[in-house]
Amino acid sequence: MEKRYRPVVGREMLFALENTPVDYVSKVDESLLQKFGLRKGDFNGTSDKDQVLGLEKELKDFEVECGGSAANVASGYSNLGLPAAFSGSIGNDSNGDLYKKSLIDSNVRPYLSVRDERNGVCHVLVTPDGERTFLVYMGASSDLKPEDVPKEAIAHSGFLHSTAYALDSISAALEKGIEYAKANNVLVSFDLASRKSIERHEKKLDDILSNTDILFVNREEADAFGFKKGDELKLIEYMTKHYGIALVAYKLREDGAIISSGHGNKTAMVMSYKVNVINTNGAGDGFAAGLLYGLTSNYDLFNSGKIATFYASRIIMQESSKISYKLFDIEGML
Ligand SMILES: Nc1ncnc2c1ncn2[C@@H]1O[C@H](COP(=O)(O)OP(=O)(O)OP(=O)(O)O)[C@@H](O)[C@H]1O
Ligand SMILES: [Mg+2]
Repeated sequence: MEKRYRPVVGREMLFALENTPVDYVSKVDESLLQKFGLRKGDFNGTSDKDQVLGLEKELKDFEVECGGSAANVASGYSNLGLPAAFSGSIGNDSNGDLYKKSLIDSNVRPYLSVRDERNGVCHVLVTPDGERTFLVYMGASSDLKPEDVPKEAIAHSGFLHSTAYALDSISAALEKGIEYAKANNVLVSFDLASRKSIERHEKKLDDILSNTDILFVNREEADAFGFKKGDELKLIEYMTKHYGIALVAYKLREDGAIISSGHGNKTAMVMSYKVNVINTNGAGDGFAAGLLYGLTSNYDLFNSGKIATFYASRIIMQESSKISYKLFDIEGML
């Protein structure tokens, strides 16, 4: 019997679960990186609150935006006109408040647990050469516990969506969410998110992939599994046969995407849209929102993929990675 990749009819809600960082993008001089012991271009995770507070005192000009890949997918899905919800933990500070407001403004129903801690922040420090250095303090944002995960809301959803970023610290909560999803015919949608997350969490990932129905993967992430350029169909075969995944969406940046189901029996190649690229951050989230929207709305693989690449192309034409686009004429676009 063919595995399912469309949600149960009548259940359109996308339920996302992940961390809740607030991103601060600042233009800085290299001397500031040295002062805080940060190597240019590195992604630095820290639990040193004083280091973050010290840095924040020095930052003057910044853009603030609520981050988190899964929440961004929920926001995109909601902007496409279908219901979305999100579960995460936030801090009892202005960043936590901002995160909640951002979900509500995007029409994503919040299921948030508030912790007596600072909300997570992701400082993106842009040096004059354009390079980005990250300092991330997760704080309250990566403290979602299994008992915080809302069983009823997930049970009535079409999809549970998360990413490998969740594996660092909220994997127990994610596993609980997956347990509720599996018990209630809710499809599990999962984005491999980053090479580092894959390398760090081999065992946890194995369990999650065994329960995944829809998988999002890019070239770098496929490489972490040992599949090089040219091995796209092998990667798809591996994911569908080894883990029993019903649908694999393999994203190929400007080359579009391959969307495959039924052990590779049904495969659609989708082109990307040629646009003026401003910032590719968030392309993957826009793609996921568009694809899940297409599957829920009963479009075939090719047209679902077209909606996905079209929606991703709108995100990369803007500076922000946040999805706020609404598409009103999807039929006209196909
Ligand atoms: N330069 C580009 N030009 C046109 N479309 C693009 C470009 N980059 C990305 N896209 C679109 O976005 C989709 C997803 O992008 P990509 O393959 O980079 O995924 P990703 O690596 O997960 O993205 P992210 O960096 O957001 O995690 C692509 O399939 C394509 O449709
Ligand atoms: Mg990605």
